[in-house]
Amino acid sequence: MAGKGKVGIVGSGFIGRGWAMLFASVGYEVKLYDVESTKIDDALADIQLQLKKLEDTGYLRGKLTADQQFSLIQKCETLKECVEESVHVQECVFESVDLKKKVFKDMDAFASENVVLCSSTSCFPASSFSEDLVHRAQVIVGHPVNPPYYVPLVEIVPAPWTDPEVVVRTRSLMTEIGQKPVVLRKEVPGFALNRVQYALIDECWRMFRDGIMSLEDIDTSMHEGLGLRYAFLGPLETCHLNAEGMLDYCKRYGEGINKVSETFGPNPRTEGELAERVHEEICKISPLEKLAERRQWRDARLTALAQMKRILEEQEKEAETVL
Ligand SMILES: NC(=O)c1ccc[n+]([C@@H]2O[C@H](COP(=O)([O-])OP(=O)(O)OC[C@H]3O[C@@H](n4cnc5c(N)ncnc54)[C@H](O)[C@@H]3O)[C@@H](O)[C@H]2O)c1
Repeated sequence: MAGKGKVGIVGSGFIGRGWAMLFASVGYEVKLYDVESTKIDDALADIQLQLKKLEDTGYLRGKLTADQQFSLIQKCETLKECVEESVHVQECVFESVDLKKKVFKDMDAFASENVVLCSSTSCFPASSFSEDLVHRAQVIVGHPVNPPYYVPLVEIVPAPWTDPEVVVRTRSLMTEIGQKPVVLRKEVPGFALNRVQYALIDECWRMFRDGIMSLEDIDTSMHEGLGLRYAFLGPLETCHLNAEGMLDYCKRYGEGINKVSETFGPNPRTEGELAERVHEEICKISPLEKLAERRQWRDARLTALAQMKRILEEQEKEAETVL
């Protein structure tokens, strides 16, 4: 079936597959390319299975059937075919800055003046791999969260030379495919999500290292405590609601926060004997040989949560219209 426009995906691993499904869910023609041709066949077989399963369980995104969405995703034999005539290309190759430099240079040669070249990179700013490109004003980072089909956040991070119009277009495209974009106004290591996540991971490692809690209890503090709030509210609005506004919160709890924060000390290194001990403990909870099973469990929970959030948002919108 004919789609609404062409989107290229470069790299058919975990993230490339997720993006392919998201773009197809609203009718884009997706051109999937990988340096290893057989990986595209594997990816297509996996995508077909995933779409069918989502349809059978009622969690398929968009208005098209699983078959219609699958028919929109096509294998590409060359990068040229993937990039030419695309309105957006999402790069999803391994996380190596040298590889990103090479792939963006190759894409640059086939890029039209109209395409956005977007990287899924988790940590490299666009300025580290796009400086010398002819089309560098069209390069941007669109960092998804794994698995992107179930976790909608996308961090949009322009390089200093990215055209502001490219930021607007990328944000609007991400919204159109049902994701929730946020924009960073300037490049910063780790972008936003990982800066917050690393602060959290550092403290978890520190508490485990110092024998304060078992690893299982540390994780429980998140999924049975903070995590429940954070599925709906950010940490800042959480403060605002936990008192009579933010200033009142600062008055009541500010001193305590500052005192505790001063005890954090240097961040533990995620390596060596400590890493071995963390690994050993986490394997008792989630054995290595059952990771695939546990990922399926995670995806099912995330799907149900995403569905519930969507239903609640729709109910809120309906209630607003009635008022
Ligand atoms: N997995 C995550 O949790 C996650 C989350 C957010 C962002 N990301 C980012 O997304 C990107 C992809 O990660 P992933 O987990 O899908 O990796 P992956 O290892 O699952 O897939 C990478 C794919 O890229 C292909 N590839 C390698 N070189 C290529 C080239 N020159 N041209 C075309 N294809 C090539 C590989 O064959 C492989 O299929 C990385 O930059 C990663 O940091 C990953």
